[in-house]
Amino acid sequence: MTTPVNVTVTGAAGQIGYALLFRIAAGQLLGPDVPVRLRLLEIPQGVKAAEGTAMELDDCAFPLLAGIDIFDDPRAGFEGANVGLLVGARPRGPGMERGDLLEANGGIFKPQGEAINAGAADDIRVLVVGNPANTNALIAASNAPDVPKDRFTAMTRLDHNRALTQVAKRAGVPVSEVRKVSIWGNHSATQYPDVFHADVAGRPGAELAADQAWLTGEFIPTVAKRGAAIIDARGASSAASAANAAIDHVFDWVNGTPEGDWTSAGIVSDGSYGVPEGLMASFPVVSRGGAWEIVQGLEISDFSRERIDASVAELVEERDAVRGLGLI
Ligand code: NAD
Ligand code: LMR
Repeated sequence: MTTPVNVTVTGAAGQIGYALLFRIAAGQLLGPDVPVRLRLLEIPQGVKAAEGTAMELDDCAFPLLAGIDIFDDPRAGFEGANVGLLVGARPRGPGMERGDLLEANGGIFKPQGEAINAGAADDIRVLVVGNPANTNALIAASNAPDVPKDRFTAMTRLDHNRALTQVAKRAGVPVSEVRKVSIWGNHSATQYPDVFHADVAGRPGAELAADQAWLTGEFIPTVAKRGAAIIDARGASSAASAANAAIDHVFDWVNGTPEGDWTSAGIVSDGSYGVPEGLMASFPVVSRGGAWEIVQGLEISDFSRERIDASVAELVEERDAVRGLGLI
C-alpha cells in the first residue's frame, strides 16, 4: 500500500463533516487508488460526536481508510497534514454584526493558519469552506508565512455547480453539456455568476445571457442567493451539496481539470482582471500540475465589470476589517 495521504477536516462533527468524511474515506477526494488517514479536528464539545462518526467510518470497512485520529488542538490536528479542509466556523448568531462574525472567525482561522505553518506537510493544500470563506482563507494564509499563498483556497465550487445546473435547466440540456461558467468575487450574495463565456451544448452562453430578464431577474439572484434559499427550505444550511463541492474542488486541484473546461475557486489574486493582488477572490480557473491557474484573456463587458467590481469591493471591505482587527 502506498503511504496514506493525511487529510485534516475541521468541524468534523458538523453537518458538512458528516456528509464529507464518508466520501473522503471512499476515495472520492483524491482518487480510487489513494489511501487516506483522517485527522478530525473539533472543539472539545464536538469531540464525542466526532468519535461517533469515527465509529461509523470504522463500520464501513473502507479499504482506503488507513486510520482516524481525533483532536481538539489545531497544532496536533494539522501535524503532517497534506490536505486541510477547514469546515468548522462560527455561525452568525442573533444580533451579531458582520464585524463580530469576522472577529469570531479570526479566533478560529488565525490559530489554524499558525498550526498549518508550524506542522503541516510541505505539500499542504488548504480549502476553506467555513464562512465567510474567502476572508477566513485570507486570515489562515496570512498566518502561515512559510506556506506558499497559492496553497490556500476558498470554496466557490458550490456556487459554480449551482450555476451549471441553472444554465442546464434554462437551456434544456444535460448538465454535462454545460462548460465554462464562472464565479467571480466573494462567496456571498454579491458574487457574480458569469454565463457569457459558457459553452452550452455547443452554443455560446451569451445567447442565454441576451435574455436580460432571465439573466438579472432569475439566473444571477438564484445562484447568488441559493445558500439562503436552502436555509429557508431546510432550516439548516446546505451540507451534502457543500461536501460534494469540496470533494470536486480538491479532486480537480490534485488531479487537474478536464481539457476544454474550467471551474471556479477562491484563490489569491495575482492582480488579474483588476482584482487587487493578494485578495482571496473567486476566478475562473484550471488546475495544471497540481496548481490553480486563472483563465486569462476573457473579455469582460461593462455589465460583468460592474458586478465583479461590486463583489471585489466587499472583499476589500472584509480584508480591511480583519486588518483593522490585527488578524492579518
Ligand atoms: P455545523 O454547525 O453543522 O458544524 C460546524 C462544526 O464546526 C461544529 O461541529 C463545531 O463544533 C465545529 N467547530 C467550530 N469551531 C471549530 C474550531 N475552532 N475547530 C474545529 N471545529 C470547530 O456547520 P456546517 O453546516 O457543517 O457548516 C460549516 C461551515 O460551512 C459554516 O460556516 C457554513 O456557513 C459554511 N458553508 C460554506 C459553504 C460554501 O460554499 N463555502 C457552503 C455551505 C456551508
Ligand atoms: C451556502 O452557500 O449554501 C452557504 O454558504 C450558506 C450559508 O450561509 O451557510
